[in-house]
Amino acid sequence: MRLHHATWPEVEAYLQRSKGVVIPTGSTEQHGPTGLIGTDSITAETIAHAMAERCGALVGPTLTLSQAQFNLGFPGTISLRPTTLIQVIIDYVQSLACHGFEHFYFLNGHGGNISPAHCAFQELYADQSLSRQGGAAIQCRLRSWWDFAEVNEIRQRLYGAAEGMHATPSELAIARHVLPAVSRADDLPAPPLLSADFIKRHGGDNHEHAAAHRAQFPDGRVGSHSGLGLAEHGAALVNAAAEAAARDYAAFLAGRES
Ligand code: NI
Repeated sequence: MRLHHATWPEVEAYLQRSKGVVIPTGSTEQHGPTGLIGTDSITAETIAHAMAERCGALVGPTLTLSQAQFNLGFPGTISLRPTTLIQVIIDYVQSLACHGFEHFYFLNGHGGNISPAHCAFQELYADQSLSRQGGAAIQCRLRSWWDFAEVNEIRQRLYGAAEGMHATPSELAIARHVLPAVSRADDLPAPPLLSADFIKRHGGDNHEHAAAHRAQFPDGRVGSHSGLGLAEHGAALVNAAAEAAARDYAAFLAGRES
């Protein structure tokens, strides 16, 4: 069920059987010369809806704006400051908590969301810890779709090191699968591979300022051979991610780690 397509009595009825909600988190930022600017939002939303079909979860509106300051050197990118995104997440969660929601599962499609989301979760927990009022506890979990073992296996098998970090063939494959009519042809050559040290230091989109980022990655791809991401790969990636996320969501609702 999609919150956008529901009525308030339907949400009230849903709350009788579940206190959980799935929130897709994406971005609005460049994805290389052939990737759509909405790629991260498209992937997160697609997987969240496929996951919800398997487990009956309510899916909230996609957070399409993110922390992406490092990509502001590329036209079309829109970035929230990290502090703004933290506040948006807190207000989103607390609004739904007013109605009785307790379990908030963020299905993530953008590395730059990870640190602000975890800060927001700590702010929400701190409110509860400091209030001494007890009451229903808010629980939050964020999972990035590429982190599930089943998805990683596909990424490694299809792309290996050419997966890179941004405008990845896997995310472009999903967008090409979902939106074939607006997909672009891609015969770009492979960009330089990233070192293991670079990947370690810059995980979660821990990049520096926008001018430096564009100078270092002039076409916007960060070590990713985008043209390898074929539409036919997209269906398998969505399927694997949705299956794994549905299992993880069930564990989350049951209070298990995974
Ligand atoms: Ni992306």
